[in-house]
Amino acid sequence: MNIKLTRVFAAAILAAFAAGAGAQTVKVGVVLPYTGVGAELAQQVDRGIQTFMTLNPNAFGGVKVEIVKRDSKNPSGAEAKTAVQELITQEKVDILTGFIYSPDAIASAQLVTEAKKPMVIMNAGTAWITNLSPMISRVSFSMWHAGYAMGEAAVKQMKAKTAVIGYTDYPPGKDSLDAFKRAFEGAGGKIVDEIPMGGPGQVPDFTPFFQRAKDKKPDVFFVFVPAGDHTLAVMKTYGALGMRAAGIKLVGPGDITQDIKLQAMGDDAVGLITTHHYNADLDNPLNKRFVESWKKSFGPTTTPDFMGVQGYDGMAAIAHMVTTLKGKIDADGAINALRGWKYDSPRGPISIDPRTRDIVMNEYISELVKKDGRLVQKNIGMLPAVKDMCKELQEGRCKQ
Ligand code: PHB
Repeated sequence: MNIKLTRVFAAAILAAFAAGAGAQTVKVGVVLPYTGVGAELAQQVDRGIQTFMTLNPNAFGGVKVEIVKRDSKNPSGAEAKTAVQELITQEKVDILTGFIYSPDAIASAQLVTEAKKPMVIMNAGTAWITNLSPMISRVSFSMWHAGYAMGEAAVKQMKAKTAVIGYTDYPPGKDSLDAFKRAFEGAGGKIVDEIPMGGPGQVPDFTPFFQRAKDKKPDVFFVFVPAGDHTLAVMKTYGALGMRAAGIKLVGPGDITQDIKLQAMGDDAVGLITTHHYNADLDNPLNKRFVESWKKSFGPTTTPDFMGVQGYDGMAAIAHMVTTLKGKIDADGAINALRGWKYDSPRGPISIDPRTRDIVMNEYISELVKKDGRLVQKNIGMLPAVKDMCKELQEGRCKQ
């Protein structure tokens, strides 16, 4: 599979930092959906990786880093598993990273456990993924970070009493549902319907799902769909069915207000409230530097979104493993290096929880507003140092 693709990318992106004669080389396998429904998301993560390299040329302490890319194609997990198998047995990589879709990470967990290869997740958000292997750590988020925060904010700040939940029907969607429900009901709200809305591989016609939600007349409609083209269809359907005019507030995790999609969303998106760990409008010096470098490299009309920052931070985590171990990667040493690791990210301060190997970070509450004719994220609240609540509360498969 993908031999041609791999060679092209490997040649193009071979990153050799301060390589000297006899320098140690670390091989990093990157598994992303370079083709298919997630191709735009893969480009974000890739550019985040590249931006880390551009802004931090000495981060690997003289160790040579070779990046080998593989295409995980569709979100089923099968292609990702084959890619991981090949990266381990043929390419003999030291570290695995990437993984946009949860099924891809879930399908790969056993392989990295058996081969003892550290795996740094740059997106896949289903909370319990980190419980599947001691080799896995995550620099992105758990669905519970945003879902739980939104459930509380909907009751406490937005004064909502009833909610309908719509979700893409696969692991992170179900996780998002559980997270929002637990927090919303815990704060005194009532869920009046739960609507599965198709899978991640194809954008469905959302009309029947949204009509069903509208008929229930909830105060808020919480929606999780994976970032990408699903989000634009969500906005379009919300507008077409006049749900805003009917007094139903659309809320969700920031996956539905991905920065690269904002300007195509139209005025029905104004007023949308989301919770997330990053948006390109975050006002801090590190983010300004990140966004500036991104535009310089990829064009003035481009912008990073949350997937971009996750690629950036994932590479920072890998650089930390590499420098801690001076380029000689042993799996336990690499995983232990990340336990308690702290980093100043464009999203704010982040760390890896030493117990769960999952990320701890700020969660921002944002409102979409129109400014100078453009849709921008106005940050209206912040929860500091948020952990994965699924593991904190020992919910379902998060029990350890
Ligand atoms: C996932 O499959 O875990 C996933 C994909 C896209 C998102 C969030 C989660 O926006």
